[in-house]
Amino acid sequence: MNLFYKIITFKPSFGLRIVTGLVGIVLSLATCGIVGLTDMVAAQLKTNDESFEGRLTEAGAKVYFEQCARCHGLQGKGADGAAPAISSVAFLGTKTTPSQRLKDIGWIGTLEGYIEAVTASGIPIKSSQVWEQNHPPFSQRFGGPLRDDQIRNVTKFVANWKQKPFTDGVVDAPKPGAGSGPQPTPIPLGPKENAGLEVFKGAGGCTACHAIRGIATGAVGPTLNKLASTAEKRVTQADYKAAGGKATDAAGYIRESILAPNTYVVPDCPQGACASGVMTANLDKILKPEELENLIAYLVTLR
Ligand code: HEC
Ligand code: HEC
Repeated sequence: MNLFYKIITFKPSFGLRIVTGLVGIVLSLATCGIVGLTDMVAAQLKTNDESFEGRLTEAGAKVYFEQCARCHGLQGKGADGAAPAISSVAFLGTKTTPSQRLKDIGWIGTLEGYIEAVTASGIPIKSSQVWEQNHPPFSQRFGGPLRDDQIRNVTKFVANWKQKPFTDGVVDAPKPGAGSGPQPTPIPLGPKENAGLEVFKGAGGCTACHAIRGIATGAVGPTLNKLASTAEKRVTQADYKAAGGKATDAAGYIRESILAPNTYVVPDCPQGACASGVMTANLDKILKPEELENLIAYLVTLR
């Protein structure tokens, strides 16, 4: 009772009031400081996480350009006969629709899981005859050149195309079963076309830059697998005419492409946009007239 009485009648001295006030202020400032600091640390950790993820994707880009671009192309759009697109909407899906490709093949795992699996182990059997080669294994565990962290990084890099997948100029994988039946027997080449094929492989030096299934794997200029069909399309295009192209049929277009390669510069090459002035410009001097005619006769058979 005595103590209670003392407490309620206690009159602190002026000095004590100041000290208590100061202690109060210091305590509340400290509380604010701790709360603020925790928030700052959390925000910093998040930025760290994001920039770490960013660095991993960057490391993946390096792996991609060194190991994958030669078949899948710099932008992952794929190349006829060489590899399917892995930056397309059909492969990646969009933020709201899932991948059509994974649906078609019935993969029940995640997209990242599929990319990682294919990259790590390769594909032992071609999923379609349209591909020239089996998918090589890349993980050291499967006899490939890459460590598993590199596989994960390149997976991140490929999956990152999902931010903005491509729809134009992509070579999507055929649906399962399509293209796996017997292939049409190629029409045997006549003597003139055969002589032209030899020019393509020899005197013309074309194989250094162009691919034709089973014949050449050059990856500087466009693939010529279906050249005659492509040529027929190109001569009707407005951009071809605007560039001063004069040909009206496949043979004419091919002749013009060989003798005046810079008239119409093809938009897409395996490593990105085609540059003008890359293709040999003086083929009219290098090739004899007969060689040129044979070469054209051969190229017109590519459909
Ligand atoms: C020698 C050429 C070649 C190289 C190099 C290559 N690929 Fe492929 N890739 C292919 C072919 C061919 C296919 C289709 C194989 C099949 O379906 O049987 C394919 C398929 C894929 C697929 C599955 C696509 C789909 O639609 O199912 C992914 C993912 C892939 N590659 C990722 C990579 C990555 C990542 C790299 C680099 C580390 C790489 N590839 C390097 C040729 C290649
Ligand atoms: C040094 C590399 C290089 C060599 C060698 C080369 N080309 Fe090309 N070729 C290219 C490039 C790059 C393009 C695309 C740019 C352009 O249209 O000029 C191209 C385009 C073409 C096109 C047009 C293809 C299309 O899709 O419209 C044809 C046809 C062609 N080349 C045939 C040949 C033939 C035949 C030879 C051999 C006599 C040859 N090239 C040698 C780099 C080369």
